[in-house]
Amino acid sequence: MKVNTIALPKISDPRGNLSFLENHAQIPFAIGSVHWIYDVPGGAELGDIAPADREVFIIAMSGSFDLVVTDEKEQNVIQLNRSYNGVYVPKGVKREMQNFSTNSVAVVVVSLEDNAPLADNTDQQVHNIYDCNIIELSKHHSDSRGNISMVDNSDTVPFDVKRIYYLYDVPGGVSRGGHAHRELSQLIIAASGSFTVTLDDGKTRRAFTLNRPYQGLLVKPGIWRTVDDFSSGSCCLVLASEKYEESDYIRNYALFKKYRKDLMAEK
Ligand code: TYD
Repeated sequence: MKVNTIALPKISDPRGNLSFLENHAQIPFAIGSVHWIYDVPGGAELGDIAPADREVFIIAMSGSFDLVVTDEKEQNVIQLNRSYNGVYVPKGVKREMQNFSTNSVAVVVVSLEDNAPLADNTDQQVHNIYDCNIIELSKHHSDSRGNISMVDNSDTVPFDVKRIYYLYDVPGGVSRGGHAHRELSQLIIAASGSFTVTLDDGKTRRAFTLNRPYQGLLVKPGIWRTVDDFSSGSCCLVLASEKYEESDYIRNYALFKKYRKDLMAEK
């Protein structure tokens, strides 16, 4: 596959926009690591952003920048300025980024090493909200050209990332979430701006304000969550342990309470 722009699904409703990508679906590879680049001074330039032997998929989650791709034959400059478009770049092509707009956020999804096995992320434990915490992302790099945070598979987070989704253009005052997952674990990051995630294990509630792109909230399976208090221009980036599966959702609070009661009884 050559360098090409891929339009991701864009799910729009009065609560904002959501786009997602999954291993071997919207992108033609399995995710090995995810990097996000922010606080880049306007006009800064970033050198090659991933090892040459990896494929990458690059998104302008907020703002805009130019991606310069160079192979033995030619150089192309691609402007990214839509949150729902990404550019696929195969191995062996040099990729540099420049001309960043103020407040831009770039997400770089890097492929897994060839044939590396993916973890089975099944988590059979019954979790409560004290198993869900804000994690400081240790893989964080800061210099005069901006900040970068990254998550490598099964490092920092206790699962391999199989899907990424993100919320953007969220109007102030809306509430999102309002569901629990049976199996899914997630890391929720305020890649831009801030919002509040309220977690509920059927007994206790705990609210977390996320406002630092180098922190992530780890949400274990079986926990009800709502997300609100979005600041204007905020971007909520979510790294998920499984592909999208509607049957994994519990979207009714009374059913969630019953689900928790049954889980506790089985324990
Ligand atoms: P939903 O999970 O209800 O949004 P939120 O929790 O942010 O309020 O998702 C909204 C819609 O998007 C719903 O119809 C399911 C769909 N969707 C996908 O198709 N794939 C995905 O990866 C996600 C997260 C949602």
